[in-house]
Amino acid sequence: MAEEPLVIAIDGPAGAGKSAAARLLAARLGLPYVDTGAMYRAVALLALEQGIALPPDEQGKARLVLLARHLDVRFGGTPASPRVFLGAREVTSALRREEVSRAASLVSAVPEVREELVRRQRALGQAGAVMEGRDIGTVVFPQARVKFFLTARPEVRGKRRYDELAKQGVKADLEAIVSEIRERDLRDSTRKVSPLRPADDAMVVDTSDLNLEQVVEELLKLTHQRLRGS
Ligand code: DC
Repeated sequence: MAEEPLVIAIDGPAGAGKSAAARLLAARLGLPYVDTGAMYRAVALLALEQGIALPPDEQGKARLVLLARHLDVRFGGTPASPRVFLGAREVTSALRREEVSRAASLVSAVPEVREELVRRQRALGQAGAVMEGRDIGTVVFPQARVKFFLTARPEVRGKRRYDELAKQGVKADLEAIVSEIRERDLRDSTRKVSPLRPADDAMVVDTSDLNLEQVVEELLKLTHQRLRGS
């Protein structure tokens, strides 16, 4: 019997270190990497550019669904220097803008948009992938053979965000960032649509006291163990 394509789901809250680890894991295993957060961000960027008010009214929702349905997103570059394209246009840095983060959060709360993007994500991952997001192991690929839920203590995630902002020359308030993270965790894990939670068969990895290389080594080790065991 032919081997099933390997899908590795990587979920968890912001600041758990998912993206860098997922990219490296994909490179080490020779699998495509799919950043589903970038897809929500891309719809949000287009919505802002097209003046669609958020949260959307009924007409806005219909327009968002069309944007999601026709989204032409591609992931390129290298693990150290990832790039995201919308058609021929590079949107890597545009997607990281603060207003796009805020809009992406509103866009991702619309069930019709989620439905459309989940459909696209299943198509992108069907030949095998390392796919990163919030609901990959629970909703997008509940049958994935390998599922991780990356997490870290709120203070650690806050400090990572603080350092990231400092690198961009932005002086932030660490305590305010940490309390915002706690509030967001509560909101994300209690919301009705796709609440953030580990799948029952996910391997939970706390990255608080690990560096990137250690996280990737741990994920590789656990992946091989899981594949041997299944
Ligand atoms: O991981 P990120 O910060 O790039 O995600 C952007 C937004 O999209 C964030 O608000 C979480 C949301 N998201 C989601 O709801 N489901 C996913 N599979 C991926 C991201």
